[in-house]
Amino acid sequence: MTLRHQGKTMIVTGAAGSIGLATCEILCREGARVMLVDIAADRLENCTTKLRGAGHEVIAHVADCADEAAVESYARAAMEAWGRIDGFFNNAGIEGSLAPTHEYDIAEFDKIIRVNLRSMFLGLRFVLPHMVAAGRGAVVNTASIGSERGLAGACAYNAAKHGAVGLTRTAASEVAQKGVRVNCVMPGVIETPLLVGMLEQMFDGDVRAGMDKLGQTATLNRVGQPREVGDVVSFLLSDEASYVNGAKWEIDGGALATIRNDI
Ligand SMILES: NC(=O)c1ccc[n+]([C@@H]2O[C@H](COP(=O)([O-])OP(=O)(O)OC[C@H]3O[C@@H](n4cnc5c(N)ncnc54)[C@H](O)[C@@H]3O)[C@@H](O)[C@H]2O)c1
Repeated sequence: MTLRHQGKTMIVTGAAGSIGLATCEILCREGARVMLVDIAADRLENCTTKLRGAGHEVIAHVADCADEAAVESYARAAMEAWGRIDGFFNNAGIEGSLAPTHEYDIAEFDKIIRVNLRSMFLGLRFVLPHMVAAGRGAVVNTASIGSERGLAGACAYNAAKHGAVGLTRTAASEVAQKGVRVNCVMPGVIETPLLVGMLEQMFDGDVRAGMDKLGQTATLNRVGQPREVGDVVSFLLSDEASYVNGAKWEIDGGALATIRNDI
């Protein structure tokens, strides 16, 4: 049986995080060689060791994805290693602190926009040229359900994730006829350290209560798991999604689809 990503090479940013690593595991199992990019060197080392231990071909690249030279460097390193980049999961992000917009710390705002939006632009800026030159490739950006709705207390995160959809649609329209597709995923409430960081602030440290409460916003009545995002990303990066471009894929258990009237 031929694996879905057999022979393909992929870059995943935020790869030492929950959604990133779960996605790397899926891409590797489906035959891809994967470059893992993250700012956290120790966690990145652990992740690559784990994947290599499972027999997968991976490269670790420590980089601040909001830094121009670092992003250019990971794209170049992938080309030097493999001569091609078939898939790119542009996923690094942070949650930032919560406060109302009219009280939001300005330096914090700049930081969140830098890490969540500038990094996404830079990823596109330095990876897309290789894909366009090759006449093939697929990109998935990580947006959020916060790309569709306001998220009280998270103006910077929310603005960055709205921007992620704009970047996705614009790039999608620019490179489609060069053989490259660009889509985004909009995860809902996914059980990861990023979510825990937000819930600690929102629910005075009672993360379990926050998880239960936010889980109820989904028709499925639970929070999601990182693997459930990774499976959709893998599909979007595959040839099976060959007619999907500029799209936003909700992975939120139905949260955006309905106003729940049964709770
Ligand atoms: N968890 C959720 O509920 C949820 C919901 C919607 C969207 N998202 C998005 O999913 C993506 C992944 O988040 P996660 O939940 O797996 O969180 P996570 O904290 O587990 O992973 C994020 C990873 O990004 C890395 N990172 C942070 N800043 C970086 C930088 N400047 N350069 C390189 N790497 C950097 C971190 O080291 C970490 O490994 C983020 O873009 C996040 O906004 C998450």
